[in-house]
Amino acid sequence: MSYTKALKRLQTIRAHVAPNLVEETKEGDNSTHSDSMLRNVSNKKASIWSGFHQKPIKDRINLLKRLYPTLDGDIFLKGSLTPAQADMMVENCVGKIELPLGLGLNFLINGKEYVVPMALEEPSVIAAASSVAKFVSERGGGFKVHTTAPVMASQIVFIGVNYSSAKYLVDMNSQKIVDFCNSHCRVMVSYGGGCRGVRTKKIYELQTEDESRDVMVVELLIDVQESMGMNLCNTLAERCSEFIRNIIGEGKIGLRIATNLCVERMATSFFKIPVDKLAWKDLNGKEVAQGIIRAYEFAVHDIKRTATHNKGIMNGVDAVALALGQDWRGIEAAAHTYATLDGGYRPLTKYRIAKDTSGREFLLGELELPIACASKGGVLGTNPAYNATHLVAGQPTGRQIAGILVSVGLAQNFAAMRALAVEGIQKGHMTLHAKNIAVSAGVPPNLIDEVVAFMSSKGTFDVGTVEDYMKAHKIYSVTKKGNISESSKKTFSTCFVKIDHPDLAETIILNLIIETPEDQKPIHLSITQDPEDKKAFGKIFGDHSYDWILKILLLSNQLTEVTELPGYQKTHQASLCYRLKLITILINRVVTAILRNYKEEGIEIIESVYSVCKGSNVEYKIPSSHFFLHNLLTELIATYRYYIDENIDNKFLREALIEDIMISLFGLKESYKYLYGITGLTKENYSIFIGHSSKRINLTQVLLIDILACDQSRITSEYIKHIVALGQVIELKAVSIRDVHKAELNDNSNYNCYYNWLKIHGKDAQRMNEKNKVEFLKSVDELNAGKISVDTSKIMNQIKFNLLLLNV
Ligand code: HMG
Repeated sequence: MSYTKALKRLQTIRAHVAPNLVEETKEGDNSTHSDSMLRNVSNKKASIWSGFHQKPIKDRINLLKRLYPTLDGDIFLKGSLTPAQADMMVENCVGKIELPLGLGLNFLINGKEYVVPMALEEPSVIAAASSVAKFVSERGGGFKVHTTAPVMASQIVFIGVNYSSAKYLVDMNSQKIVDFCNSHCRVMVSYGGGCRGVRTKKIYELQTEDESRDVMVVELLIDVQESMGMNLCNTLAERCSEFIRNIIGEGKIGLRIATNLCVERMATSFFKIPVDKLAWKDLNGKEVAQGIIRAYEFAVHDIKRTATHNKGIMNGVDAVALALGQDWRGIEAAAHTYATLDGGYRPLTKYRIAKDTSGREFLLGELELPIACASKGGVLGTNPAYNATHLVAGQPTGRQIAGILVSVGLAQNFAAMRALAVEGIQKGHMTLHAKNIAVSAGVPPNLIDEVVAFMSSKGTFDVGTVEDYMKAHKIYSVTKKGNISESSKKTFSTCFVKIDHPDLAETIILNLIIETPEDQKPIHLSITQDPEDKKAFGKIFGDHSYDWILKILLLSNQLTEVTELPGYQKTHQASLCYRLKLITILINRVVTAILRNYKEEGIEIIESVYSVCKGSNVEYKIPSSHFFLHNLLTELIATYRYYIDENIDNKFLREALIEDIMISLFGLKESYKYLYGITGLTKENYSIFIGHSSKRINLTQVLLIDILACDQSRITSEYIKHIVALGQVIELKAVSIRDVHKAELNDNSNYNCYYNWLKIHGKDAQRMNEKNKVEFLKSVDELNAGKISVDTSKIMNQIKFNLLLLNV
């Protein structure tokens, strides 16, 4: 039967199938007890398989053992093929190479539930097939499959014949040839198979004048029942060639070989889903349908896209073929050749939107392949794993296996097209590929999930990102005194900071792991120059964004230069200095955001962090919804302490740095007690208030950190004390100068020190009065009197300049 005739027959069958979508595959339905269990499971709709992928592998195997009591579940874990068995299968055997085995779930094919073993190394393929299988079964009633009889063709070439007479002779003796053939495959005939027919085809002419210059092929059509059939077809071609030669009476016997392009042995899978039920992620059904059709048309018209389109299909087909011990190379060859039969290379699946009599729109998807699948013979008897995979798949017949392969191929393609049309392939694929990257980067198993969550949150899936996370995890575990096991049970949020500028010694990258209460969704904050990240940052931290942090960082050196620290060299320890400064700026930002965003509760949060950092066991009941900033602050301080302990030998400097951070934490918290009226602000306690508030501009940290870039031999504990005192003096001056400047700009933020000074002096309406400003700044100088003996005018000019630049 010619290909076009076969196609016509298929179309009549499909037209017959499509309208009522009746189920087809009654033949050889040898259901096992697990089928009955699966059937009553499917009645309880997808319950038993739902979330299967979230279970640990041990639990998955246990579930399989419960569903398939005769299954030796460990066969998949410990491997099935002994070296001896492997040595029998291939030549020069030196062992085995393994592939992961997973289960394609939710496949409803002709009303029957299938669990489909799939063997492959590529992530997201099994998830995609299972996701779409669920989608199609829930919204379209599953896949409808039709298969034709398992007829394979073997070809015998005859060279130097007169085709028309040879064809006549073969046709006339076709039954004789069929009988001869069947006499050579009695076992197959006993199974109900055997030779079904003979046909001929002229393939080309020899360049001779000879009358018998045709080269023809005689094809034997062999029903091979449950076997794949290539061996039998090759054998029969060799055994029948002489017999047929005698019938033709001329010519030389050429090649005798079966063909993989088994267009008599077709399998078609088909689904039909109402367009109004196609909604997925943020797109409605219509948009998804249009996206699928556009993706399909791209594959129809661009051969480069056709290649990947069909590769996606074979992702699924090959994975099942490998798991069920089928000849995936033969299946591949047949599929890609079949894709060229109409001329040109076309997508193997077809999609269209059709209306039913009521005008309701449906998306119809179809995959049809010439596919030779076996439930018996070949390697199925050699590798014990195949018994297990066939058991899990419900001991399918050869035709049912073909139906499963085309349904998985169709599901694979639909999943890829749906993802490409709706959110891009990387979102789903890379999130699942992330595991591979983590494993290949050597991440310990108990950290894989959180590393994957981190990569997905960042949207970057590479070893560099894994290393960033592991660096952060190292700091986290060190600061948590190594109780990793404790950490592995938690979920984590992350804070990724990337500050980049040519004036910085190098790009500063910070990765922080932040513990997340189980009732909270992890938050993954990125502080980078990416506009989206800036927006997210602004939501939490208000107006002081990425650019502000960068400006502060770059200006910090100028302050140090005018302070003339002994032997200060800007480039010495530059990257460590910038990294420490960045962390202190972030600590300052987070503290301010907590105090401003959470009001009185914010003070509680800072007290909780303060006590944690001070190592006291006072427990604070912090609402879990405030977890992110609370734990981010704790982690920032712990990371700060980590870098100080790791890099600073000078004990006094280490202590001064930590002490000053604690002073700013305490100071800022206390200053807000005045602002929220918890502590009444009076003339008597104003100096304490402004002392605390001055920690808003943490210059002591900047100077202490830049001591690292000095000649360490000249850094004594006394000198460090001097710098701390100097820092506190200039902080007080700076905050007073800043707030006077802000008040002139009508800043009526209640934490403005000058504005509060005016209020307690009953002059809050006279902020522009120069006399008041002078009196206020003088009162600040009086507070600083006697604290240090150095002239700070040059420093203060630099600070005034920076404050103007920063417009703070
Ligand atoms: P989703 O719909 O977001 O998943 O898809 P969901 O979370 O809603 O879960 C729905 C069901 O999907 C689950 O049911 C599971 O059955 C399954 P539940 O168990 O919840 O009742 N599922 C999973 N199964 C196992 N492991 C998982 C998993 N997640 C969901 N981790 C999904 C998420 C990744 C499936 C989706 O984004 C997707 O289909 N992406 C396409 C991925 C793809 O096509 N990968 C193939 C490799 S890429 C390629 O090489 C081929 C390509 O180039 C071909 C082409 O170009 O055409 C793309």
